[in-house]
Amino acid sequence: MQSRNAMGTPQRVLLLAPWALLLLLALQLEAEAAPPSVPSSIVSPLLRTGYHFQPPRNWINGMLAILEFLCLPLPFCSNVLQGVVPPVLPVQPKGAVWGNIVWAHSVSHDLINWIALEPAIYPSIPSDKYGCWSGSATLLADGTPAITYTGISRPDINYQEQNIAFPKNKSDPLLREWVKPPELNPIASPEAGINATQFRDPTTAWFADGHWRMLVGGVRRTRGLAFVYRSRDFKKWARAKHPLHSAMTGMWECLDFFPVAGSGEEHGVDTSEHGEKYVLKASLDLNRYDYYTIGSYNKGKDRYFPDDPAGDYHRLRYDYGNFYASKTFYDPAKRRRVLLGWANESYIVPDKSKAKGWAGIHAIPRKMWLDPRGKQLLQWPVEEVEKLRGKSISVGGKVVKPGEHFEVTGLATSYQADVEVSFEVSSLDKAEPFDPAYDNDAQKLCGVKGADVKGGVGPFGLSSLSPDLYKPTFAGFADANISNGKISLRSLIDRSVVESFGAGGKTCILSRVYPSIAIGKGAHVYVFNNGEVDVKVSHLTAWEMKKPLMNGA
Ligand SMILES: *[C@@H]1O[C@H](CO)[C@@H](O)[C@H](O)[C@H]1NC(C)=O
Ligand SMILES: *[C@@H]1O[C@H](CO)[C@@H](O)[C@H](O)[C@H]1NC(C)=O
Ligand SMILES: *[C@@H]1O[C@H](CO)[C@@H](O)[C@H](O)[C@H]1NC(C)=O
Ligand SMILES: *[C@@H]1O[C@H](CO)[C@@H](O)[C@H](O)[C@H]1NC(C)=O
Repeated sequence: MQSRNAMGTPQRVLLLAPWALLLLLALQLEAEAAPPSVPSSIVSPLLRTGYHFQPPRNWINGMLAILEFLCLPLPFCSNVLQGVVPPVLPVQPKGAVWGNIVWAHSVSHDLINWIALEPAIYPSIPSDKYGCWSGSATLLADGTPAITYTGISRPDINYQEQNIAFPKNKSDPLLREWVKPPELNPIASPEAGINATQFRDPTTAWFADGHWRMLVGGVRRTRGLAFVYRSRDFKKWARAKHPLHSAMTGMWECLDFFPVAGSGEEHGVDTSEHGEKYVLKASLDLNRYDYYTIGSYNKGKDRYFPDDPAGDYHRLRYDYGNFYASKTFYDPAKRRRVLLGWANESYIVPDKSKAKGWAGIHAIPRKMWLDPRGKQLLQWPVEEVEKLRGKSISVGGKVVKPGEHFEVTGLATSYQADVEVSFEVSSLDKAEPFDPAYDNDAQKLCGVKGADVKGGVGPFGLSSLSPDLYKPTFAGFADANISNGKISLRSLIDRSVVESFGAGGKTCILSRVYPSIAIGKGAHVYVFNNGEVDVKVSHLTAWEMKKPLMNGA
C-alpha cells in the first residue's frame, strides 16, 4: 500500500491494490510453473465457467465481441451478441474467420439465466455479405427497437459500412427475426477521407433537438475519432462535419456515449435524457483496453469536453484486467445503467480453443454510476447475481499478523464463490510514499516490484493456493479515502475467471486463470498479509455460487 498527500486533500490516500489480484496471481504462477508445453488443464471442463455468460458448447471465437443489449419493457431482455458460428476454427487466415461473424442471440429476464436462440443478424445483403460486426440497439419513440451494426462488404480489406435492421414481427416478445430494409442499407459508407478498414461499431443513438445522433469509431493517422451521424427519421443519416471528440490513441472501437446522473446518484439515465455529466468510452485497438473520460456535452455543437483533458484516454479504465469491447445499456425497469464487457481467453501458449470447444466469456453485468466526487465511475455486480448465492460462511474480527495467512474453510465450491471482505489496517504510518513515476500505471509498478514484495502496509488480501506463490499480472490504483484504515474487496470467483471490485467498486480487475492444481476441489481461499503491520479482517462472508441456465450448455 502506498499513500500520498494529494493536492488540497491531505486525507486522500492512493492505494496500490495488489490484494485485488492475488487470487488470480497465485493461480497464474502455478499455471506458468507447469511444463512449458500447454498444460492439459486448459482444456479441462473444470475450467469452463459456472455462472459467467458464455456461448453454447462448440462455439468458438476469434473475436467473440459481445454485443448489444436490447432491453425491452417486457419480461425478457434480449442480448444479441456477436460470435463466430463455425464449430471449428478454419485454418485459413483471419479473413475467412471474420467472414463468418454473425450476431448470436440469447435472452434473459434477469441478466444471469440465459437461453440461446437462433442467430439474429447474419450476412444476407451486399453491405454485410462478409460479416456482421459490432453495433448497438436503440428503442425508437414508438417502442420499435432498431439495431445498427457494421457490415463487411469486401473481404480483401474488410471494407466497413453501417447497416440497420428492424424486428420482423414486433409482437414477438423474443424478437427472433430481423429484417434489413434494402432501400435503407447501408446507412453510412466510408466517404473520401475515411479509412474504410477503420470505420465501425455504431453506438446506441440519442435524440436531441429534433435529431437522432449516433457515433461511429474511426482513426485519422494516429488520432482516434468519434464520428457523429445525424438523422431526423432514423432512416437517412448524414455525417456531421466535426467528430464529437478525438485523441491521439490510435483507432477507437466500440464507442459508448451516455449521460450519468449527479455525483453519487446511483440511478441511471436513459441515453436520450439529459445528464449532469457524460461518459465517452473508447476501446483502444492498440492496447486492447477500455478507457473512458467524464465530461460535458454541448448538444448544439455536438461536441464533448472531458473534465480532465490531461487524462484523455490514458488514465481511467473500466477495468484494469482483461475486459474489452464493452457496452452499456439503460434498464428502465430498475432505473440503472448496466455495463457488459467481454473477456477473451488469455493463453500465452497457442490457442487451445479448438480442443476446448469454447472461448470467450462476458463479465457479470455491472451497474455503473458516478462516484460522489464526480471524478470516476463506480461499478458493482448487478444484484441479480446474488440469487445464485448458496451456502455461506462468515469470519469476523480476525487479525492477520505480518507474514501470516489463514484459510477460509467450509465452502464446498471454493472455485465458484462470491467473497466479500472488509480489511482494517492498524496504521498507515508505514505505507510507502507514492511514486509519481507510476501515476497511471499500477500494472507497471506491480511488474517492477512484484506483488510478492513485502511492503510496509500490505500487500494483503485474498489468495488461492499458498500465499507465497504469486506473480504480478494486472493491477490498479484505488483512489480511496482510507484514513479510517478500512478497505473492502469483493471477488467473484468462477473456475477460470476472477472478478474483483476494490473499495466499493472504484477499481475493478477481471482476470482469466487456468490453474492445474487449484482446479475444482483443489482450489482453496486464503487471507494473507505480507506487510509489516497487522491487518484485521473485520468481516468476511463467502458464498458458494450455483449455476444458472447458461445457453443450454
Ligand atoms: C476521509 O475520511 C475521514 C474519516 O471518515 C474524514 O474525516 C475526512 O474528511 C475524509 N477525507 C476526505 C478527503 O474525504
Ligand atoms: C407475431 O408474433 C406474435 C406473438 O408471438 C404471433 O402471435 C403472431 O402470429 C406473429 N405474427 C406473424 C405474422 O408471424
Ligand atoms: C487504413 O487502415 C489500415 C489498417 O490500419 C492501414 O493498413 C491502411 O494503411 C490505412 N489506409 C490509409 C489510406 O490510411
Ligand atoms: C486476448 O488475449 C491475448 C493473449 O492471448 C491478448 O494479447 C489480447 O490483448 C487479449 N485481449 C483482447 C481484448 O483481445
